Amino acid sequence: MGKKPTTVFVCQECGYESPKWQGQCICGAWNSMVEEKIVEAKSARGIGERASGAGRTVAKAKKLKDIWQNETVRIDTGIEELNRVLGGGLVQGSLTLISGDPGIGKSTLIMQVAASVASQGKKVLYVSGEESVEQIKMRADRICDGEWEQLLLLSETEMGNVLSVLENEKPEFLIIDSIQTMYNDELTAAPGSVSQVRAVGLELMKYGKDNSVPVFIVAHVTKSGELAGPKIVEHMVDCVLHFYGERNQDLRLLRSNKNRFGTTNELGAFEMTDKGLQEIENLSGTFLDSLEERGDGSVAAAVYQGTRPLLLEVQALTSSCAIGFARRTAIGVDNQRVAMIIAVLEKKLGISLLDQDVYVNIVGGIRPEGTATDLAVAMAIYSSYRGKPLSSKTLAVGEIGLTGELRNVTHVDKIVREASRMGFDRIILPEKSRSKAEEVKSDKNLEIIGVINVKDAIKLLRNS
Ligand code: TYD
Ligand code: MG
Repeated sequence: MGKKPTTVFVCQECGYESPKWQGQCICGAWNSMVEEKIVEAKSARGIGERASGAGRTVAKAKKLKDIWQNETVRIDTGIEELNRVLGGGLVQGSLTLISGDPGIGKSTLIMQVAASVASQGKKVLYVSGEESVEQIKMRADRICDGEWEQLLLLSETEMGNVLSVLENEKPEFLIIDSIQTMYNDELTAAPGSVSQVRAVGLELMKYGKDNSVPVFIVAHVTKSGELAGPKIVEHMVDCVLHFYGERNQDLRLLRSNKNRFGTTNELGAFEMTDKGLQEIENLSGTFLDSLEERGDGSVAAAVYQGTRPLLLEVQALTSSCAIGFARRTAIGVDNQRVAMIIAVLEKKLGISLLDQDVYVNIVGGIRPEGTATDLAVAMAIYSSYRGKPLSSKTLAVGEIGLTGELRNVTHVDKIVREASRMGFDRIILPEKSRSKAEEVKSDKNLEIIGVINVKDAIKLLRNS
């Protein structure tokens, strides 16, 4: 008789368990299996086994027409940037995962949210498995003023204990920092393992939904930026927010990768100061900070991100490559997109960039959604290649097609308003969007130039 196996291989993507290691899981993911101790339930009833007969609550379906809209009443977090990313505040009973690198400021952010919600008279429970209550208090003293009757702290890692505190205190908002430190003592697996993260995630979801309490869960990320633990947790929760930024810079961005109650391309911006995170309302201003001093290879661009326009600086550098293939490196824009723009430039302007390394960068470490930055990328590359700067008061916006034509810009009205607010005096945009842009223009000094294709836009650059 062979020995009973003590470990099992679990897929981090879907949670599938296999006795043998498999290069590809049944869900199709490659190299996603990790070895874990076999999970045993300590209680008489096995994990996932259903209770039956007496004591089992009877589920009841509701008629759609009987469900009231106010079941999605939102709680104001008091932090506008966060409210917007969440789609307008915290939804009752919703589960939100906040991921980010260590030290980026996740605990700082949730402390500020906790204090702000508590100051509205709502009972908040902040459970930390990472820090002692004294450490949390020290941080709170530094970043928030005042005394909060309604803010409760708990330093605990066992879910059973957390649930009994929840039972007694009945908070209106629950924060867990972090899911990887929590464990269910009915399982033998270590905290942070796939089965623990999954079990704790399920318990928190059940608690949140049953009691209509919004839950914030902090989650660690792995070196490659993936959420540590099974993808299944991401499927379980309603919102997945990612908090990121350069650790040596103060700008912190919050974006949603998943949101069941709003759009996913909203961006929240903060500045890390010695008094915690400060909201940045004028994000365009932050990104355009250095625009004044720019030389060739730099062009201002605009995108519509979530529900607001955002102005940015696109930079490009071309330099002759000595040997081998020319490089194309893009940060903040898709590499393929840059390759396409270079091909269009070569074909429509009759230039050759075959012997040029091309680097493109969106200033500020942001990765804007959509294709509205195409024109600025094309103009920045050409500007660097010819050593011809564009005025820092000119904004270029538009998507480039394969034939070099410029496509319509969505929300052009809001982009024009933002450009005049930021003091631009010229906007180059697709001819198709010009009339709409003219309609909203209130600033006499703002010149709106419609161009049909990329060649016309480059002509403006040459003549400027
Ligand atoms: P923290 O919220 O503990 O990060 P995380 O929970 O994501 O690991 O923040 C840690 C960093 O933030 C730390 O390096 C110091 C910095 N910080 C400030 O600059 N100002 C502040 O007011 C606070 C509380 C932290
Ligand atoms: Mg932390």
